[in-house]
Formats: sequence, structure tokens, C-alpha cells
Amino acid sequence: MAAHILVLPGDYIGPEIMTEAVRVLEVVNRRFNLELTWEEGLLGGAALDVHGVPLPTQTMERARAADAILLGAVGGPKWDAVERHLRPERGLLGLRSELGLFGNLRPAILYPQLAEASSLKPEVVAGLDILIVRELTGGIYFGEPRGIRVLENGEREGFNTYVYNESEIRRIGHLAFSLARQRDHRVCSVDKSNVLEVTVLWREVMEEVARDYPDVTLSHMYVDNAAMQLVRAPKQFDVMVTGNMFGDILSDAAAMLTGSIGMLPSASLDRNGRGMYEPCHGSAPDIAGEGKANPLATILSVAMMLRYTLANPEAAAAIEQAVSTVLDQGLRTPDIQRAGVEAVSTSAMGDAVVAAL
Ligand code: NAI
Ligand code: MG
Repeated sequence: MAAHILVLPGDYIGPEIMTEAVRVLEVVNRRFNLELTWEEGLLGGAALDVHGVPLPTQTMERARAADAILLGAVGGPKWDAVERHLRPERGLLGLRSELGLFGNLRPAILYPQLAEASSLKPEVVAGLDILIVRELTGGIYFGEPRGIRVLENGEREGFNTYVYNESEIRRIGHLAFSLARQRDHRVCSVDKSNVLEVTVLWREVMEEVARDYPDVTLSHMYVDNAAMQLVRAPKQFDVMVTGNMFGDILSDAAAMLTGSIGMLPSASLDRNGRGMYEPCHGSAPDIAGEGKANPLATILSVAMMLRYTLANPEAAAAIEQAVSTVLDQGLRTPDIQRAGVEAVSTSAMGDAVVAAL
């Protein structure tokens, strides 16, 4: 399937990791005759420097026209002094909401070669492969009214509104169930229905969605227990589906089970399966320009793009296999370095993945 991709390298290590990811994209494009085309655009601080805004109209238009977006990372100290509404991160948030990217996919996969990098015992995490599906455009992060007000007695009060309507829950439910079909056919829905009415509805709607997927097993778990189970016995999960705030917290916890943030890709999908693909980490200003950044999270984001938007699981698996191969070969950037083994640079890691492909 011919498709067009918008590449947004972003700031600090963004361009360094994106260079390697695009090289990988070139190789799979040729090897699998994918007929992909791509162009680069500006987002975040890079856009601010050129156009005075973090999300220029031109970038927005190209993003709407693209089948998929590949993003590095945005932000950093260079733009610390700019006004709040012009901050680089605002460009990213604007892009997500303008494109209606409601479904955030955060896999937590532990490569056996990196078992020692996990904060948990090897037997607890070996073979870990879970997928957290987080609702990204609703819930308490967006609910109105919100604010800080002064009460009659002069005391200040902060408030947010936790709200989900049925169609928002149904939409993320269908996404989670259809993804479970490509995996181990199990969905665990995480809520707090013993306390929060919103999530009583969440649970009901998930049950309704489940009827359309008789081959997928649905279970429910309260969020506090889910947090505990994630660090106690994470391998019990296949797909976890949850709202925006719970998903934010649980996905970061799950991420650390796998060792390094430099290994973790993500996807954010719209209702047509188009999406934005990016590493979970930020722009890492502390190591930018030194060739120390791990490009694997971005390279694995390319694999996710091939699997979830471009419907080419074969090419996706080839990239994932190549990553596994370079880890087998012992190649490690500093973030996943082993004692006594010299670390390789960002570009050497990219070279190795390209060679493995
Ligand atoms: P960060 O993820 O950029 O860095 C946290 C730590 O992880 C740092 O020590 C960094 O060196 C390391 N790290 C991150 N990615 C790495 C990689 N690929 N290889 C090796 N080490 C890596 O988070 P931080 O420091 O909180 O934020 C830095 C900037 O990035 C801020 O301006 C922040 O707003 C922005 N940011 C952007 C995101 C995005 O574009 N999606 C997400 C998170 C933060
Ligand atoms: Mg977070």
C-alpha cells in the first residue's frame, strides 16, 4: 500500500535518533516494496526558531494529509523562557488533539538480552510482552469545568472534571479488543468503579463492547490493584485498556519494567487507524549532540507504524527481529550498557540495525 509519511525530527536528540530511524525506513521500503514516500517538517522548538510558533500551519496541513507521522521529540532548555502558549510541547499537544489521536498504544516488551536492566527479578519479567491502551483525548485531563477558584470564605479551591461519554469509552474499547485479537486474546480493563461513577459506566460499556468479540476474554481490575499487580506479576497481562490519567501512570510504571526508556516506542491512533508514532522519551538535552542517544525506541516506532497504520506486519517483524539481532550481537548504547562492555554510538547502533536488515 503506497502511503505518505510526515517526519518530524524535533529538538535536541530528536534529529539524531530520527536520522537512524529514516535509514531503517529506507531499507524496509526497498526490501518489502512498500512504495512509501516521506517528507520532513518542523515541530516544537525547531519550528519556533523558524516560524515563531511550535506548530506552524504548514506542518498542521501536511500532518492532516499524511497517512502517518513519525516524531522524534520536542522541547528543551533553549526555549525555557518562551511564553507558555508558545512552548515546544504545546506544538505536540496541539497536533495530538487536532488529529483526534484518541488511542495511545504503549507496549512494554522486555528483550531477554536486557533482562538485567529491569528493576524486577529476571524470573518476574522474562518474556514480558504487554500492551497498554490508554485513552488520550478525554477524561480528567480535558474535562470542563476546571480551574482554581476562591470560595466565599477566601479559601482557594482547585477542581477538575472527570467525564467520559459512552462513545468515547466504546471507541477505545473497540481499539483494545481488536488489538487483543492480534495478540493473546485477553483484555483487562482498569477502572475505579468502586468509587468513581464515570468508571461504573466505563465498566458497563466495556462489557457491551466485549459481546462483539466472543474470542477475546475481558477481565476488570481496580487501578490500585493494577498498579500492584504490574510490579508483582506483570506477565499476567496481555492488553490493558484504561482512561487517560490511569493510563498515564500505569504506562510509565510498565515502561520501567523493561529497563531503559531508550527502548520504548509508542503509537497514537485516530478513528481511521492513521497515527503518530514516537519514542516514549523526551529530547534528552543532557546527552544531545554526543552520539549517546539510543535510537532503538524510534526505530521500533517505525515498526509499530508498519504494523498498525500501514498494515505490513511482515516488515514490522523484520525490524523487531533486526533489533533483537543487534542486542544479541552485544551492541549497547550507554543507557543499556553492561559493565565491562564498551558502548556504541547512536549511528553505530543504526548501522547495525540496517546491516541486520
Ligand atoms: P527525557 O526523556 O528527555 O530524558 C530523561 C532521561 O532519559 C535523561 O537522562 C535522558 O538522557 C535519558 N534518555 C531519554 N531518551 C534517551 C535515549 N533515546 N537514549 C538514551 N537516554 C535517553 O525527559 P526530560 O529530561 O524530562 O525532558 C527533556 C525535554 O524533553 C523537556 O523539554 C521535555 O518537555 C521534553 N519531553 C518531550 C517529550 C516528547 O516530545 N514526546 C516527552 C517527554 C519530555
Ligand atoms: Mg507520562
